[in-house]
Amino acid sequence: MATSTRTDRSNLVPFSSRLKEGKALAQDVWSIFAAANLPADCINLGQGYMNFAPPKWVTKAAEEALNSVAPNHYSHPRGRIRLREAIKAFYGPQLNRDLDVESEILVTSGANEGQYSVFTAFLEQGDEVIMFEPFFDQYLPSVTFNGGKPVYVPLHPPKDSKLKSSSNEWAIDFDELRRAITPRTKMIIVNTPHNPVGKVFTKQELEGIASIAEEFNLLVMSDEVYDCLVFDGKEHVRIANLPGMWDRTVTVCSAGKAFAATGWRIGWLIAPAYIIQPTLAASTRIVFCSNSPLQEAAATGLEQAKERKFFETQLAEYAERRQILCDAFDQLGLKYTMPEGSYFILLDISKVKFPDDYPFPQSVLGRGRDFRACWFIAVEVGVSSIPVSEFYCEEHANIGEAYARFAFCKDVDTLKAAVERLYRLKDYIEA
Ligand SMILES: Cc1ncc(COP(=O)(O)O)c(C=O)c1O
Repeated sequence: MATSTRTDRSNLVPFSSRLKEGKALAQDVWSIFAAANLPADCINLGQGYMNFAPPKWVTKAAEEALNSVAPNHYSHPRGRIRLREAIKAFYGPQLNRDLDVESEILVTSGANEGQYSVFTAFLEQGDEVIMFEPFFDQYLPSVTFNGGKPVYVPLHPPKDSKLKSSSNEWAIDFDELRRAITPRTKMIIVNTPHNPVGKVFTKQELEGIASIAEEFNLLVMSDEVYDCLVFDGKEHVRIANLPGMWDRTVTVCSAGKAFAATGWRIGWLIAPAYIIQPTLAASTRIVFCSNSPLQEAAATGLEQAKERKFFETQLAEYAERRQILCDAFDQLGLKYTMPEGSYFILLDISKVKFPDDYPFPQSVLGRGRDFRACWFIAVEVGVSSIPVSEFYCEEHANIGEAYARFAFCKDVDTLKAAVERLYRLKDYIEA
């Protein structure tokens, strides 16, 4: 008998059950709020990528690398030596160390792949990884794909009713952190400056985390991809610099954030040789090596940044962008978190009202209230943002539901146009 052409053959070979963990198969927030799903003229302050090019002198270095032979081919899995030398020169003084380019630095395919490789290298099945909420959503599948179990500890939002809070007011409850630790806890992820809160962890907070890491023998993953975006003279403290912490910390950085080049997929890890060595073994078998020509460009970026005062200038530009959005939120009278670092602002949207019977798509129904609020704002006002409950586990999602994340890594004209539209929110604010 002929096989029916209507037989469903889409599940002949079942995919791995690990995709079901870590929300890898759930429709993620980025695809729900992708430009294609929103009105064509919606201004995108949702995703955290820039709408401007990397600096010309860096892209010129990329062109030169593409026009020569060696950088078009495999690099050493540790990364191109010129970039490792540039990382040593740039970060060595900040870490008070004479970094060894052969054993203490690993160039990766963006911070993401670097972090993934650390998890592959260090997690045994069932090992627990502590992450503060809201957390950068990539951590979750990276941990679970590698057999780890995420354990969530929320940062607590400011409780008072003032309109403008500092990101510093999002607080760690150290007793809660301690209670989250079990004999299976292996790692803790610290993200400073923080996405999406913008919090720059204080020395005191990092000392608290450090003493817990020492007491329970934890590996610390210090995600510092926004280290070049710390505002108002606030100090960026590297946990690896605290007493004893170099020995158990891997510092994670990203050329994407540093040089407005998120698509280049270049990042690096800095850690003692005994952390880099197993991570290199994993990374070599995952990607073998990272994008070669753009490693040369990133090296140029780090080599010339100081003399060009690049990071100082870039920071001032971001401070101006941050101010444009903050001024608008001040005028609207909506509560928000003033970030001390990174390029995100959390707006409290609990007072933004919308009709229950608004024609929401299925993708946002059944999710937190923030999904509906962000959808409504995107469609009615024309500015997209990201609902923050996505960055919490189910149990704590209610904390995130009060917020929308606006990214200000956009040019001034775009931000000014967005602000003009955001003023329309006035019509939808509960008294
Ligand atoms: C906190 C945090 N860590 C890591 C990354 C990933 O960086 P990369 O693009 O270098 O992989 C991001 C990107 O948004 C981030 O926000």
